[in-house]
Amino acid sequence: MQRLVNKRVLLGVSGGIAAYKSAELVRRLRDAGAEVRVVMTQAAREFITPLTLQALSGHPVHGDLLDPAAEAAMGHIELARWADLVLIAPATADLMARLAQGRGDDLLTTLVLASDAPLAIAPAMNQAMWRDQATQANLDLLQGRGVRVFGPGAGEQACGDVGPGRMLDPSEIALLASDCFERGLLTGKHVLINAGPTREAIDPVRYISNHSSGKMGFALAEAAAEAGARVTLVAGPVNLTTPPRVTRVDVTSALEMQAACEAALPADLFIASAAVADYRPVACAPNKLKKEPHGNHGMTLELVPNPDILAGIASHALRPWCVGFAAETHDVLSYAADKLKRKNLDMIIANDVSAPGIGFNSDDNAVTLIDRSLQQQQLPMASKNQLARQIIGHIASRLGTVEATHHH
Ligand code: PMT
Repeated sequence: MQRLVNKRVLLGVSGGIAAYKSAELVRRLRDAGAEVRVVMTQAAREFITPLTLQALSGHPVHGDLLDPAAEAAMGHIELARWADLVLIAPATADLMARLAQGRGDDLLTTLVLASDAPLAIAPAMNQAMWRDQATQANLDLLQGRGVRVFGPGAGEQACGDVGPGRMLDPSEIALLASDCFERGLLTGKHVLINAGPTREAIDPVRYISNHSSGKMGFALAEAAAEAGARVTLVAGPVNLTTPPRVTRVDVTSALEMQAACEAALPADLFIASAAVADYRPVACAPNKLKKEPHGNHGMTLELVPNPDILAGIASHALRPWCVGFAAETHDVLSYAADKLKRKNLDMIIANDVSAPGIGFNSDDNAVTLIDRSLQQQQLPMASKNQLARQIIGHIASRLGTVEATHHH
């Protein structure tokens, strides 16, 4: 079921008595971590209200192909592209016939035609209708095109008949839906990443900060989500769009960043890519500071140390696997190794920020991974996106071996 985390399931509901089970199915899919959007046929709305499925899916239910309001919110082509899986449950005999013919006479069948995502159906109908030659021919046709067919089960039917045609239970359908996806390197893991700078207020208009853009951390968040993880990204003030399928928490100061990171625990993995200000003004002045009292004499700002977010999380009882970054301008590897030990980390990523074109605010980077046994792995200059995928690959393989040793 973990394979459904972050996955986008477009659930089509057609008009059969089993449509009442679709409500439970929406819950099962969401419990497994999927995002669900529901499309109902006209007939389905005779069996269950769109409001029920809207409440359970957390999104408006789509019904009409030619509804201008719905098309403005998320048009049918957009919806078709959005889906990772189109799942139709229940699929009636009529719906199967329309799919087999390739019709697009309502929103659901049009979406199926317009989507490149895999299609799965959970048929539900009276046993005689299921056995009918026409339905069986349609079934063969659909299976021949690669459509996955879940069930149907056999047993007592709503009409009193006994035989094949019952829709599978929602829990079975959700399990089969999860089998439609491959396992990613981080499937089932919760990954916490912080990114960007922090701002430490001096007064209402001024602050202390640094040049971090957040690009490295956002690229890592995207790569972790691609690898199947549930990702929480705690971001300082940056000018970047949230990667798809990532939960973002915006913060400003180091203290806020610490609180947001700790609130996101437990996590399996914490990657601290943020450039956290080491010090903050002892207090933020309530009003804008004036030049007058100082004149040309200069002024002194009193600073106090910020907590170390990473060292704090690395000493938690339920500690995630901890990865730090070390931005250094000289003696990069020895300072990095020193931070690894001092902060009790599993890995540190040494970042030479003196080299031109890499490090802070650039699109490229080059780093060295150092693990607890001080083994080094150099990752030469590449875009932060490419590098992020490599870093996630290396971390995932270590995480895998840690778990393997725990199990034995
Ligand atoms: O954001 P970009 O423009 O893409 O740039 C990326 C980056 C250069 C900022 C990034 O790759 C990086 O190196 N981040 C760490 C920057 C840093 O300031 O490191 P540090 O040596 O001060 O801290 C070491 C580690 O402890 C870091 O993981 C840091 O997040 C963490 N730390 C530091 C201080 C503090 N108070 N709390 C912390 O958690």
